[in-house]
Amino acid sequence: MSSYSIFDGPGGLPMVRIANAFAEAEVSFYGAQVLRYQPRDARPVLWVSEQSVYRYGKAIRGGIPVCWPWFGAHPGDPAQPAHGYARILAWPLIEAVELPDGGTRLGFALSPQALAERIALPDFDATLSVTVGRELEVVLKVANLSRVPFPYSGALHSYFAVGDIGRVRVTGLDGANYFDAPAGAECVQAGDVTFAGEVDRVYRSEAVCDIVDPAWERTIRVAKRGSASTVVWNPWIDKAARMSDFGDREYQGMLCVETANAREDARTLAPGAAGELAAIISLR
Ligand code: BG6
Repeated sequence: MSSYSIFDGPGGLPMVRIANAFAEAEVSFYGAQVLRYQPRDARPVLWVSEQSVYRYGKAIRGGIPVCWPWFGAHPGDPAQPAHGYARILAWPLIEAVELPDGGTRLGFALSPQALAERIALPDFDATLSVTVGRELEVVLKVANLSRVPFPYSGALHSYFAVGDIGRVRVTGLDGANYFDAPAGAECVQAGDVTFAGEVDRVYRSEAVCDIVDPAWERTIRVAKRGSASTVVWNPWIDKAARMSDFGDREYQGMLCVETANAREDARTLAPGAAGELAAIISLR
């Protein structure tokens, strides 16, 4: 029996559900966005807002949106959507593999034509693979098929579910330089990251981060490849209130630790070159 099945999710958006020996997971074709990863006998690892909008043209608030080919605002054109087009386009399924260890791997491809209708880019191939097993591994692979350099930035913008943000610590970033977006300032992290107000930071770091969550007595580990920047975000009270697809109190049960290629860590692929951005997420 296959470990995956396709179903109509909220808003009629097609999704894939995976149920194997390790975990249950759901991925939306819209954005190739992982919306659920729930190891057996555990609470969901990923957070999705109850106010999320499931409609083409609007990004789903939660899970793992793929921000690409740019992170944040477009570098030159403010009319372009925040965080790029990958999270607001459909990604067809290109492979589904039952792995020998009992895990399941799905592969999705972003259509260069769909992007070309919206923005001029050199020819490329972009795929996202999602492996559901003892860990959740999400890998964005990009190849430059053109004869000119292909510059991009991006992130696997992972939203995590926690019991009480006020007690959460994120380890792994002690001593790292970061850009503090609300202050517009460069800073240095001292100790673990804790949350008592809005946090919106781009850390220069390749480190593994642990999200230590005493309320739910668990730790979520975020390891990575191909990333020298980590974004940590919690909107807190005022920004949450300004977002229509984010409940006023939901900031208490979430945070983002994003595996990124952001700011100085933006990449340029030479003609014919390929790059990958990978997040490996597990419970400890
Ligand atoms: C984070 C940014 O990565 O994404 C924040 O650092 C931003 O500044 C957040 O608010 C959410 O962005 P969006 O476009 O999904 O509302």
